[in-house]
Amino acid sequence: MLVIALAKGRFLDPSLDLLQRAGIRFSEDVASSRKLIFDSVDGRCRAVLVKPADVPTYVEYGAADAGIAGRDVLMESRADLLQPLVLNFGHCKIAVAAPKGMRSINGSDNPTIRIATKYRNITLEYFNARGIPVEIIPLSGSIELAPLIGLADRIVDLVETGRTLKENGLEVVEVIAESSARLVINRAGYQTKREEVLAFIGALKDIQ
Ligand code: PRP
Repeated sequence: MLVIALAKGRFLDPSLDLLQRAGIRFSEDVASSRKLIFDSVDGRCRAVLVKPADVPTYVEYGAADAGIAGRDVLMESRADLLQPLVLNFGHCKIAVAAPKGMRSINGSDNPTIRIATKYRNITLEYFNARGIPVEIIPLSGSIELAPLIGLADRIVDLVETGRTLKENGLEVVEVIAESSARLVINRAGYQTKREEVLAFIGALKDIQ
């Protein structure tokens, strides 16, 4: 049986749609259930529902053979996984944003910029590479609020439609990376469950 880690939240519907088109069906309505484990009708796959940021962990440790996660989550986790397929959903940007009109960084006035984010590693890597000292303000949601109430100078967050930034008077300063959903595979499972894993990758590839 192939165990697939799926992210709850906005990736769940497109992930289930992808599996369905690949011929993997579940007897229950996965999206509306509170259960966390679902076996496919043919008994060949098991879907486990996890927090988006936890998908790499489940797959890296082999609790799941495969998973679907955003590139943002994969970059942040630094998990050692195979990434055989870029999937055609979840397109967004990882960007630095600031209140409108505050675009320029004045290093001499304020040597350490405070950045609110849930992407600590991505943010540090990006600014360290540019020699810009930053202090990370770790948050797990509603990141856009931080610069509006004096908790941070800037944010690093996902921008999909840009609506959240716009409605909170923020704008993109720099784009760090483009992101979309990826199929990830456990390295050991790629060898030990080779036939199943290759069939799964092939099925998804055919419908991309
Ligand atoms: C994400 C992200 C932004 C928003 C971007 O938040 O953190 O806040 O979506 O989308 P937009 O550009 O289409 O407005 P999410 O809804 O996942 O909630 P969060 O605040 O808990 O991170």
